[in-house]
Amino acid sequence: MRLGDDQVKGYLQDGYLFFPGIFAEEEIDALQAETRRMSAMDIPQRVLEEEGDLVRTIYGSHDISDLFGRLVRDPRALEPARQLLDGDVYVFQTKLNPKAPIRGDVWEWHQDFVYWSRDDGMPRPDVVNVAVFLDDVTEFNGPLFVIPGSHHSVLDEDTMTLREGWWSGRHAHTADGRHKLEREALARMVDRHGLVSVTGRRGSVCLFHPCLLHASPPNLAPYFRTMIFIRYCGVTNVLKPMSRPRPEWLACRRPLPVRPLDEPMLAVAAAAGSSTGRAPNGAMDH
Ligand code: SIN
Ligand code: MN
Repeated sequence: MRLGDDQVKGYLQDGYLFFPGIFAEEEIDALQAETRRMSAMDIPQRVLEEEGDLVRTIYGSHDISDLFGRLVRDPRALEPARQLLDGDVYVFQTKLNPKAPIRGDVWEWHQDFVYWSRDDGMPRPDVVNVAVFLDDVTEFNGPLFVIPGSHHSVLDEDTMTLREGWWSGRHAHTADGRHKLEREALARMVDRHGLVSVTGRRGSVCLFHPCLLHASPPNLAPYFRTMIFIRYCGVTNVLKPMSRPRPEWLACRRPLPVRPLDEPMLAVAAAAGSSTGRAPNGAMDH
């Protein structure tokens, strides 16, 4: 998928782009089956909602599942990131968020780059987020809210770090984010730029900038809102050493260029069924 000049211009101006109908029904079905399989795994990469035993997020699904490993190499996800970052990219992180029916919780307002620069020593916001919709996303099931154009301002000084990081035992993935944006800054940005909720059918893709201010409300609908976020990072944007680096499945420190698949994602014999189910590497406590 090669972006046209107008699309590149739109991304630079608004900080996001939306594309309906990129992945086919059977591809989404296969990714959903893998999501269910991984959701049942009791591994550190799987983070539960505070209330109950619902899955909030699964990190590193591209390392856990062969099929998700193929998704991050699929040119429909990879090529726009390579184009926008003008060169080779590595997968800094993947995050699969099923947002469960009725109880899937809020993701507070934030800019991803503020987290990654503080927690991981990321030097520059040379990242493209590729969000693939694995369910229909409506106004009811907790869509992504974005503030178009907000990526032009890095709100570092308006964001307070509230508590210690992943090593403290209270991990940083709960609904109550570790770095909190001040309300005044949010109000200022909304006044200036307005608000958009990104809705669309399953199989859609949203690309967005790591400084785009975004959030999502709870899921109050009786159906899932599953999305996977692939964070492609330019290979020269290598994380600085940190005294307590986060586990590799949260913040990859090996800038290995991702090579595009040269066959369809589902080409390998029954790709969904062919997953090895192997245990993920580098399992660590939060
Ligand atoms: C995120 O911002 O990292 C997740 C947002 C969402 O799943 O809605
Ligand atoms: Mn985010």
